[in-house]
Amino acid sequence: MSRIGFIGTGHIAAPIARFLAAKGHEITVTERNANVSAELKAELGVIVAAPQAVIDESDIVFLCLRPQIAPEVLKTLHFRPDQQIISVMAAVSADQLTALCSPATDFVQTIPLGFLQQGGCPLAAFGNDVLLAKLFEPENPVVKVADEAALNAHFAICAMVPGILDVMATGAEWLAEQTGDENASEFYTTQLLSGFLSTMQTGNAGRLAEERDALATDGTLSLQMTQALHAGKAHDALRSALEAIGKRLETD
Ligand SMILES: NC(=O)c1ccc[n+]([C@@H]2O[C@H](COP(=O)([O-])OP(=O)(O)OC[C@H]3O[C@@H](n4cnc5c(N)ncnc54)[C@H](OP(=O)(O)O)[C@@H]3O)[C@@H](O)[C@H]2O)c1
Repeated sequence: MSRIGFIGTGHIAAPIARFLAAKGHEITVTERNANVSAELKAELGVIVAAPQAVIDESDIVFLCLRPQIAPEVLKTLHFRPDQQIISVMAAVSADQLTALCSPATDFVQTIPLGFLQQGGCPLAAFGNDVLLAKLFEPENPVVKVADEAALNAHFAICAMVPGILDVMATGAEWLAEQTGDENASEFYTTQLLSGFLSTMQTGNAGRLAEERDALATDGTLSLQMTQALHAGKAHDALRSALEAIGKRLETD
């Protein structure tokens, strides 16, 4: 059991706190957002405290602030040399963390999504991946990355999730236009994709292409779809978006 603190108690901190509380860790959170911290207190019995008290009461500290305000908040706080820091903040670099959390030196940067609470969320890790694995595996597999550029590329892939959801929403809307049933259309589209993907959890290189090619054989509707998406430059658009997000993370 560890004493774990959260600086910033918003959308992403809440499911992490729920996951870790269920594992028996002692959780302390900052008050803001007041609704979320009150909910976590009522539901899990977490302690709500001022930011410095959260740090003082914790061995492991999660940094879950929006990047724009992180420097201003963190520079007023005092960390201990023995503390382990887990940052989930996009675009706050390892150098910035080292400066802001000195004299702490043990860091890991990662990218959780809220469904980590249920398990199955891969956690890209730059830094102390062993700490992350101790807290989140086996439910959420840790994927160690070599450097910050690689971590930022994983952030870009996370941004692909809403991009793909958006494409699926267009498909579901089109289906509803044909059938007149919006709920059934969205259910069918979502279940089809999630059911298919749930059979593919061992993602060795080449598996996506293999599964695609098994469906998109000569003369099939599937091949018509994959070719049309290439011809319509959907893949070019995706690559450009990933590049642009990667660049933005480098310069922010
Ligand atoms: N959401 C995701 O799925 C996700 C996934 C991966 C990584 N991240 C990263 O996680 C970080 C937080 O994102 P989020 O979506 O959780 O944002 P969020 O919901 O806005 O959470 C940020 C929290 O920080 C609080 N806060 C603001 N000023 C503070 C202060 N001075 N002291 C203490 N707390 C303060 C905010 O409270 P108020 O609401 O009262 O201002 C809010 O509860 C971002 O860096 C983001 O890149 C998010």
